[in-house]
Amino acid sequence: MHMITAVIRPHKYDDLREALLQLGVEGITVTQVKGFGRQRGQTEFYRGAEYTTTEVPKLRLEIAVSSAIMNQVIDTIQSVASTGKVGDGKLFVHTLDQVVRIRTGEKDELAIG
Ligand SMILES: Nc1ncnc2c1ncn2[C@@H]1O[C@H](COP(=O)(O)OP(=O)(O)OP(=O)(O)O)[C@@H](O)[C@H]1O
Ligand SMILES: [Mg+2]
Repeated sequence: MHMITAVIRPHKYDDLREALLQLGVEGITVTQVKGFGRQRGQTEFYRGAEYTTTEVPKLRLEIAVSSAIMNQVIDTIQSVASTGKVGDGKLFVHTLDQVVRIRTGEKDELAIG
């Protein structure tokens, strides 16, 4: 099992959500965040506004996935969230030791989806 943390452009969320549901992703945690990448100090556009500060609004997605669909999830995030312009975001893959569904006590593959 893996936890994928993805930082994406907010306007890409709806399309990505649909694509991930199609793959069998059973849950996503979404947080509004601000950040910067390697163009820090340069400008980026968000909803038509130019950001001259270094931190630009993004969404952070946390998605726990079984190994069976991990590669498809990674490829889908990369392709759906891409515009080809700087600031498209990044994803990070962490190994996930354990998952517990709090209501039932189910663990790991039974709890992930
Ligand atoms: N090394 C990093 N560690 C943590 N968060 C990062 C890192 N790089 C990027 N991010 C996060 O991802 C967001 C988008 O980064 P961004 O797409 O600008 O990365 P980049 O490496 O500059 O790539 P690009 O050249 O395509 O812009 C940042 O606002 C930040 O929240
Ligand atoms: Mg950048």
